[in-house]
Amino acid sequence: MQEDFQKTNLHLGQSIVLIGFMGTGKSTVGKTLSHITDLPFYDTDNLIECQEKTSIKNIFSKKGESYFRTLEVNVLKNALAGKQKILATGGGIVKDPANAKLIKSNSIAIALKTDLKTIINRLKSSAKRPLLPNDSFEETLTRLYNERVGLYDFAHLIVHTDEKTPLEIAREIYDSTLI
Ligand code: S3P
Repeated sequence: MQEDFQKTNLHLGQSIVLIGFMGTGKSTVGKTLSHITDLPFYDTDNLIECQEKTSIKNIFSKKGESYFRTLEVNVLKNALAGKQKILATGGGIVKDPANAKLIKSNSIAIALKTDLKTIINRLKSSAKRPLLPNDSFEETLTRLYNERVGLYDFAHLIVHTDEKTPLEIAREIYDSTLI
């Protein structure tokens, strides 16, 4: 993993793509990293919401998850093809191995990892995640977390976020990459 990263490190000018489970802080860290680097920040969920003019929750409930996943891969491809940027992605984007491959070969992929307990605390008051129903919130979250635990490990760099501020995490990424 580390050797791999060193090689990618030489690819100056590549975008940084933040991957990780829901609630790992991809958007917050991405915005902070955008301030530090002066690179523009985008988020695949926001890009989808702007394009569709509705919320992710509505897209899931009206058109279903597979429709959302199609939008997600299209937005990802466009974002990767464009200018250098910081891109936060939805936690499920790596469910499709083709997306993981796309991210790995077209960006510097950074995985944020956070303990399940912290994620539960962060997300329990948020009503915007369509995959986490109120009546089985903790159970569903735990199941998804366990199902997806290894899916982010293809990243060039893995950053553990517990006990760190968004600024510390962004600095760690900045210091480990040549962007
Ligand atoms: C999803 C994560 C969400 C969003 C959608 C599906 C997932 O993004 O893309 O609700 O499958 O994990 P965040 O990771 O930003 O919550």
